[in-house]
Amino acid sequence: MDEQDHSQQLRQHDQHAYIPPKATDRRAPCPGVNTLANHGYLPRDGKDIGLFKLMGALRHGYNITWIHSLFIAGTAMFLCGHGFFRRRINLDDLAVHGKLEHDASLIHRDTPIGTKRAPNDVDPELFKELLKYPAPGHGMSLHDFARLRRDRELLLPRPLEGWIKSVACSEPVIAWFVMRDEASGEIPIERLKQFFGEERLPDGWARPKQPIRLFQSLGVVFSMTESVTKMIDASRKLD
Ligand code: HEM
Repeated sequence: MDEQDHSQQLRQHDQHAYIPPKATDRRAPCPGVNTLANHGYLPRDGKDIGLFKLMGALRHGYNITWIHSLFIAGTAMFLCGHGFFRRRINLDDLAVHGKLEHDASLIHRDTPIGTKRAPNDVDPELFKELLKYPAPGHGMSLHDFARLRRDRELLLPRPLEGWIKSVACSEPVIAWFVMRDEASGEIPIERLKQFFGEERLPDGWARPKQPIRLFQSLGVVFSMTESVTKMIDASRKLD
């Protein structure tokens, strides 16, 4: 590597260094986009983000394909964004309950009664619960995420239904694709702690080599939705 390449790499590294958010910065109840903002792939203040900026961050930060990024970011812009011709989003717009935000989140408390937005901060108790799901000596598997989704939904008067149930399953699925260790198919515990708990790109983690494709993740989302539904039905029959 010549000197110019090296200094360019250092500049890029600095540009994407982890900086925790200031009190005035906007954040979402989503470790995925908060991490991108904490590393400067999205504006660090979390404000005034356009569709292409959001798509670019998903691609550069996590190697999610353009079509897949368009699908996720386009849905979010449409449902949670503001402005007609020049639609923009602030990250805390994603916390508005009943659009993409739903109850029974993995590590965030439900929207308090009488308010419109869910809390953006990770709840320490729920986070501790999440860490109990991997088997001893293992990382977090897709099956562990499915069991956690079941247990969170069983606490609701009625489990999530329709498309929002698949949205809820799509969140751990995309996190799994981005953060998993390719060989084990699990998210190692330290990675889990840094990504979910601190909303930062974990030490030693590298952006997935293979792009994360839309139909590949939709397939996994649908099978997780089905297995969570079956597990919930089975638990209800036992009661
Ligand atoms: C434009 C892209 C994205 C948007 C608009 C978005 C939006 C959201 C929203 C609104 C929630 C809150 C749902 C709730 O629990 O009520 C959420 C949760 C979540 N997101 Fe994202 N997300 C995006 C990308 C990502 C990516 C790339 C990842 C993983 C790398 C990710 C991982 C998660 C996880 C794991 C949760 C669940 C948090 C919890 O249940 O406590 N998201 N996302």
